[in-house]
Amino acid sequence: MKDGYLLSRSFLSVAETEHWRQRVESRRAVFRHVAAKAGMNLSYSVMHGHQVQDELPDLFDLVQGRLHEALQDAAGQPLALMRDRKRAVRIQWYRRRGEGFRWHLDGGMYSVLLTLVNTNQGATQVIPPHWSRFLKPVPYVLFPFQGLLARAPTTVIESRPGDLLLIQGGAVIHRGTNDRSEGERVVLVASFDPVGRRPTPVWDWLARRLNY
Ligand SMILES: [Fe+2]
Repeated sequence: MKDGYLLSRSFLSVAETEHWRQRVESRRAVFRHVAAKAGMNLSYSVMHGHQVQDELPDLFDLVQGRLHEALQDAAGQPLALMRDRKRAVRIQWYRRRGEGFRWHLDGGMYSVLLTLVNTNQGATQVIPPHWSRFLKPVPYVLFPFQGLLARAPTTVIESRPGDLLLIQGGAVIHRGTNDRSEGERVVLVASFDPVGRRPTPVWDWLARRLNY
């Protein structure tokens, strides 16, 4: 994962993707809308880890099975699902142009993003590792510098349904964008840490406040 990410195109077959899309669709009522807060995050809708575990246990098994395995292979080290299960797994749903995620680092060191729907040309933008490295020790100072970060060189990754993005999200700064106001994007996200990683209490507290 030398660029901080790997894209596995068509990780799921068309039939598998459709199956999971329908499973998520059947739980649309569970999604909660998260409002934009003081310029720190953009709005979006989310189903958090406890809900995924209760409502879609089969999808939770996919995370702990094939997705965990693929991420571990890419990272080249043993990983465990992030301790805080509520944040470790979530399904994010973007419906409007202004929705998305600002530049940030993840609480977990590695994440998988499995795209189930993308009809609004939603994308993940990544700032290369050598640029991201300067800001790594203090992820929470990123928020005031969104304009500055927009000038850094970025890679744009447009995932199609069934694609799996493996990202070292705790080390490379990234964001989610939607170019079009029509259509929507549904992404399953799961965050993992190297086995034995020390807890990061301040970061965890802040991440909870920001509804990661
Ligand atoms: Fe992220």
